Amino acid sequence: MNPSVTARKLAFSFLIFSLLAFPLHARHYVIVLSQEDLFDASTSADAEVAAAESFPPEWDEFGDPDFKPDHELDPGSWRPIFEPESDDHRAPPELVEYYSAVVRMMSAASNGEFGTMQEAAAEIEEAARNGSPHAQSLLGFLYEMGIINEKNKAKAFLYHYFGAQGGNLQSKMALAYTYMRQHMHEKAVKLYAELAEIALNSFLISKDSPLLEPVRIHNGAEENKEGLRKSRGEDDDVFQILEYQAQKGNAAAMFKIGLFYYFGLRGLRRDHAKALAWFSKAVDRGEPRSMELLGEIYARGAGVERNYTKALEWLKLASKQELFSAYNGLGYLYAKGYGVEKKNYTKAKEYFEKAADNEDAAGHYNLGVMYLKGIGVKRDLKLAYQYFLVAANAGQAKAFYQLARMFHTGVGLKKNLPMATGLYKIVAERGPWASLSRWALEAYLKGDVGKAFLLYSRMAELGYEIAQSNAAWILDKYGERSMCMGESGFCTDAERHHRAHTFWWQASEQGNEHAALLIGDAYYYGRGTERDYRRAAEAYMHAKSQSNAQALFNLGYMHEHGQGLPFDLHLAKRYYDQALEIDPAAKLPVTLALTSLWIRKNYAESFLVNMIDSLPDVYPKIEEWVENVIMEEGNATILTLFVCLLTVLYLRERQRRNAGVGVGVGEGVAPPQLNEHVPLAPN
Ligand SMILES: *[C@@H]1O[C@H](CO)[C@@H](O)[C@H](O)[C@H]1NC(C)=O
Ligand SMILES: *[C@@H]1O[C@H](CO)[C@@H](O)[C@H](O)[C@H]1NC(C)=O
Ligand SMILES: *[C@@H]1O[C@H](CO)[C@@H](O)[C@H](O)[C@H]1NC(C)=O
Repeated sequence: MNPSVTARKLAFSFLIFSLLAFPLHARHYVIVLSQEDLFDASTSADAEVAAAESFPPEWDEFGDPDFKPDHELDPGSWRPIFEPESDDHRAPPELVEYYSAVVRMMSAASNGEFGTMQEAAAEIEEAARNGSPHAQSLLGFLYEMGIINEKNKAKAFLYHYFGAQGGNLQSKMALAYTYMRQHMHEKAVKLYAELAEIALNSFLISKDSPLLEPVRIHNGAEENKEGLRKSRGEDDDVFQILEYQAQKGNAAAMFKIGLFYYFGLRGLRRDHAKALAWFSKAVDRGEPRSMELLGEIYARGAGVERNYTKALEWLKLASKQELFSAYNGLGYLYAKGYGVEKKNYTKAKEYFEKAADNEDAAGHYNLGVMYLKGIGVKRDLKLAYQYFLVAANAGQAKAFYQLARMFHTGVGLKKNLPMATGLYKIVAERGPWASLSRWALEAYLKGDVGKAFLLYSRMAELGYEIAQSNAAWILDKYGERSMCMGESGFCTDAERHHRAHTFWWQASEQGNEHAALLIGDAYYYGRGTERDYRRAAEAYMHAKSQSNAQALFNLGYMHEHGQGLPFDLHLAKRYYDQALEIDPAAKLPVTLALTSLWIRKNYAESFLVNMIDSLPDVYPKIEEWVENVIMEEGNATILTLFVCLLTVLYLRERQRRNAGVGVGVGEGVAPPQLNEHVPLAPN
């Protein structure tokens, strides 16, 4: 965030939160409200109250205990193929044809069999023609990507539209994303609201699952080794050590393992039975957090028969051990009148406050609900959104939903559909269809790149930024091994570049800085697209707005050379300086660039300037050389090289000044130039 803008705009204090499981790789959501989002004091209170009355009363703000299994929430899901053992759900007979086509498609992608893919596509088309909404959804995907069928956005849209009408929710995701991209917010917001509500159903009552992001398989340049290691589930060493400790009787380890199974963290599959077993062992050793989760499990009936009496007992035990989040569960039971003599809002509020006072996000959320609806308190929308804001910035998905709805309906906050759309989207993306990312990652970790690519492509179409960037990265990195298939055969190099470019573009639209840089580079060097300095500058500007040192550097460079941006040495210098400010690691390239700038200012028209100007043309060769020769030997070599270069330039300048005359042309040292691809901060 730009500090000056922040200071000017903000009305509240905001926290950047990092997420529980993958703090390094999770996107940070920060909700920023400006004064303009709020009703000013002059807005009549009556109007606000009138708006509030229109709030749909049927939604149970505290969470509905009757949650449905994923296969009901996400009809046509590929779960029966990837997790056949997960529940006793069998594919209904009318879907047999559809699932057989999906299986064929997956096997075609895994084994790189174009003929099999053609057969699968024929089956899908047949089923779609027979009116299966799920097959229609899949056909939309094939048209969107240009697999077997010629890429055709209009047809893709049409089939998703039919699929959505027939109840395929993944098609609804795809449509919502399409509408959002086209700024058709009225339509987007409606779909995302519906999807977010369904997603909420898979969340928990008091102990909300953290907002889990799909795993990024790369961090820009390289594979995200740390993130991948943490996703290996039971194969991960750290997990095995933990399990060993738990077996030896370590209660904290038992709790952690239970938690991993309960939420399905670190690449493990959700397994309520295993979670229950570990929590039960841990509570025997007096581990309080496990008591709270047992309360949750019994209230929810997750893998056990629901028993509110037991839930109350466990939550009470946990709260006695100063585990303040357990008070939420107690508050919930009193607000609903479950397992207690009767509903008591006063008591519920006391419990929620106790949790909130001890910085429990769910406590803030629940208080927000009380004030929003005027349950047990006088309705106060201002207080409500303040509570929601705190909860949202601590990662409570339900709070995102409530804020989205306030923006959507204009209750409590000024109506703002783009904002509502964005917030709903965050929640909607946690719906049951997010399992695609788990399967994609499992395939990737097994070395089944083709399947991973297909799954990420599907998710990309549903609007997931991380999947877009993962799919693009797989195309760039694995080339032919990505099993990218086109209309009439495997993708050519050009087709792959084009497809990668599309994915990167979408990711960059959604705020992925690295993607914005790549797009900038693609236009700058004319890779996978026509060379276009103006668009390159636009893309860099996009990354710049997020304070990306490399983008700033590139903009400086473009101003220096008058490419895509006006020739302006002062601005160039300013960008270089800013890059350095943001990222001290940019010192070397910035120094080099400033040197070049200085030369340009003081020795315009000299050979050095000509040499520097000719560099972008030699650049691709150098890049190859750097990648093949130098990268092997690591950083030190590059650094040494740059230092030498700098020295050479410097000495030459001195020599020239002393001699007062120009010297001959340089000995063809093609220095790996002062350019963008200097290993700046990886992002
Ligand atoms: C619920 O748990 C309580 C206390 O453990 C027990 O007495 C009761 O029989 C249980 N109810 C059901 C329906 O199992
Ligand atoms: C509700 O709880 C409050 C505070 O714990 C208590 O004073 C009050 O008597 C309770 N009300 C009912 C109807 O039980
Ligand atoms: C390059 O050097 C930096 C800092 O010395 C280090 O953090 C980074 O891991 C190195 N990268 C490679 C590819 O060796």
